[in-house]
Amino acid sequence: MPILRASTQFLRTLSSFKASATNLSFGQPTIRTMASAVSKRLEGKTILITGASSGIGRATAVEFAKTAPKNLKIILTARRLDTLKEIAATINKEVGEGVKVLPVKLDVSNAAEVREFLKGLPEEWREIDVLVNNAGMVKGTAKAPEILEEDINIMMSTNVTGLINITQAVLPAMMKKPDGGKGDIINIGSIAGREPYAGGSIYCATKAAVRAFTDSLRRDLIASRVRVIEIDPGAVETEFSLVRFGGDKAKADAVYTGFEPLTPEDIAEHVVYCAGRRENVVIADSLIFPNQQAGSAPAIHKK
Ligand SMILES: NC(=O)c1ccc[n+]([C@@H]2O[C@H](COP(=O)([O-])OP(=O)(O)OC[C@H]3O[C@@H](n4cnc5c(N)ncnc54)[C@H](OP(=O)(O)O)[C@@H]3O)[C@@H](O)[C@H]2O)c1
Repeated sequence: MPILRASTQFLRTLSSFKASATNLSFGQPTIRTMASAVSKRLEGKTILITGASSGIGRATAVEFAKTAPKNLKIILTARRLDTLKEIAATINKEVGEGVKVLPVKLDVSNAAEVREFLKGLPEEWREIDVLVNNAGMVKGTAKAPEILEEDINIMMSTNVTGLINITQAVLPAMMKKPDGGKGDIINIGSIAGREPYAGGSIYCATKAAVRAFTDSLRRDLIASRVRVIEIDPGAVETEFSLVRFGGDKAKADAVYTGFEPLTPEDIAEHVVYCAGRRENVVIADSLIFPNQQAGSAPAIHKK
């Protein structure tokens, strides 16, 4: 008798597996894959990406659009509005009109602009489901006491207070959702926030601040369903070094010679992976290196 019960149970499990693996409405057997599950979970969501005009932000917008092409809203923000408009047109050309893209000029370092930002959006765009806090920058490689005050201020106001301000602007709508609130806050930190290096003290300090803010926020929101996620890339080839060296392409290119850096798409895939997990799964903290990186720059002074 126990054998009969076990085989009945086995048949029940098998038939429920078959039912879930078959798309009954079309009568076609479609196997549920991780990609199809992610696509379904993202459907209907509104994604806000800061720093979407270049590098990781731009790649993240494209990756979201390709993953959930049937029904998604993506708000692209940065200071270069023309570039955002071009990216929006490219996305629509590639994936069609199922993805609505709204390019909006936003300087996250400007607190007043951030405060007014949501009010300025059309009403149907104001409930953000996923915020990707990606806007960030580095200026120069100066060491104390030679660091320019203007460089300190722009790194702090973009990478730290900008990220905090936009998070505070978006959270109230997330918190109104059932179960004490729902949504994803995905912060792009850096290996620099975990392992500081010479010539990067302010940038490293900003990314350490992002890390502390992110960890506190996750604790602050523990009673809600808001997922607070940090992704820390190692070296990614983007405009990042070009900005650091004030547009000097030779200096920027030299950063990425002799090894194969990550591409912005490598990070974008991980952002979408995190946002596409089952609601109860939080990829709280990730460190992503290219294969030939294992930390920041070495710190031994040899005579
Ligand atoms: N590349 C790397 O090796 C690396 C490694 C670890 C972490 N990260 C982090 O990854 C994030 C993205 O950087 P990336 O590598 O993709 O560099 P990127 O190509 O230079 O992109 C940076 C983006 O941030 C935007 N931005 C800069 N200041 C802004 C401001 N005040 N307001 C709004 N947007 C602003 C830029 O757009 P506009 O100029 O149009 O405003 C641009 O879209 C940053 O947070 C960076 O710290 C990068």
